[in-house]
Amino acid sequence: MSGRILPPKPTARAEKVSVWGYIKLFRQDILSAHPARLYRAKMAEFRTPFFTSYLVNEPPLWKLVLNERPQDFPKSERMRAGLEPVMGNSLFVSNGADWERQRRIIDPAFEGGRLRDSFPAMLAAARAAVTRLGEGGRVEVEERMSHAAADVIFRALFSVPIGDGEASAVFHAFRAHQGTQPLLNLAGFLPLPRWFPRFHRRSTLKHARRIRALITTMTERRAAEIGAGTAPDDLATKIMTTADPQTGERFNTGEMVDQVATFFLAGHETSASALAWTLYLIALDPELQARLAAEANVVLGDSPQFGAVSRLRLARDVFREALRLYPPLPMLVRQAARPECFRKRDVKPGAQIVVSPWHLGRHENLWSDPDAFCPARWQTPEGKAAARDGFIPFSSGPRACSGAGFAMIEGPLLLAMLAQRFTFAPVAGQEPVPVAFLTVRARDGIWLDVSPRG
Ligand code: HEM
Repeated sequence: MSGRILPPKPTARAEKVSVWGYIKLFRQDILSAHPARLYRAKMAEFRTPFFTSYLVNEPPLWKLVLNERPQDFPKSERMRAGLEPVMGNSLFVSNGADWERQRRIIDPAFEGGRLRDSFPAMLAAARAAVTRLGEGGRVEVEERMSHAAADVIFRALFSVPIGDGEASAVFHAFRAHQGTQPLLNLAGFLPLPRWFPRFHRRSTLKHARRIRALITTMTERRAAEIGAGTAPDDLATKIMTTADPQTGERFNTGEMVDQVATFFLAGHETSASALAWTLYLIALDPELQARLAAEANVVLGDSPQFGAVSRLRLARDVFREALRLYPPLPMLVRQAARPECFRKRDVKPGAQIVVSPWHLGRHENLWSDPDAFCPARWQTPEGKAAARDGFIPFSSGPRACSGAGFAMIEGPLLLAMLAQRFTFAPVAGQEPVPVAFLTVRARDGIWLDVSPRG
């Protein structure tokens, strides 16, 4: 690799700031609202007039929260309220027995063997993304990758491309929705009291209703096709025909609409963010791009096969390095259900517990040269050891991302196929500034000069 590459990192704020100053900073951007010491800290406590929040970086602590006693740290009510208009009570936001039941029905659809069935959908979407890039030019790649990732998820769920009438309408309704609701997943951080009314903007609710109406039509049609024995064998059919092994019950239409909306949102915004940052990172290193293209030529050739994706070692390392530096969901918010003691401090029930893939991925005690883009670290014993304590872009434990296996095929596949056909170069004066919206995005998009690979 050519030289040390330091991609953009938000400027951390000065150490001391008032609560109201914090709210102001937070509203501008949560990543730069946090002080620099969080990249070194084992734990940090934030007191607001209404509640206390703990950011837990120390590996035994985040493992306690996510892996060992997740039932004592449920997802926060604030987050549920923020996501409810679109996601309803889906598995992303539910807790306890309700969440367990939903996972029992959904997990079989994402098991290793089933991923093979989603591969043709990913490949078709990747080919369509390559075709859409055409002769290249100056391109905003976040938007392009959103389109590509939405195409992947629609083809995998409902066997329809994103260009299809309803799929396209859902995609556009989601984009409009996001524009009105930028901080959804991070709502749990706002230092407002629990009783503070959380009105959704009228436009947010309007877009949410439209999204759910469109998805209801698709789901009802699929239910009829399943009844008639004409349904395609895709994720939607699999989920709708799987019975809870404990109760024998299946999802009703309303529950299925919650899940589809969630898969669509959780499964395309995240992958799109990761792919866009990956393309920016490789744009900084032409030699790495040449190696990615060579790997893709050897491993995938002109007719990529599912079994070959596991041999895309370099593409996977590059994608993982992008997930480390720019984890699409930067912070995971939980709530203490009972009194706890963290590093000799009493944590009261109701306190916010924040596990931060963003800070862990760049933590100075865990990684060597944490801010540098260095895919080679993934093949070193130190890199692998650091990953065990500091790499959780898909979260960890029983509530980890259901689509992690899916995303780790989709991401390297799209990256390899794009690097095989194109070269990417940064645009002078347009360095992207990372900010956290629903996912980690660039404030003014990610612009790259794209050319067909000669
Ligand atoms: C690079 C891509 C992706 C990343 C980085 C990612 C990350 C995450 C993270 C961090 C969580 C936990 C959120 C929390 O604890 O608050 C999560 C949950 C989830 N993700 Fe993903 N995700 C990705 C792709 C996908 C895909 C492709 C799908 C579906 C096809 C998906 C479906 C879900 C679902 C359903 C949950 C909720 C799981 C539960 O709470 O039981 N994700 N994801």
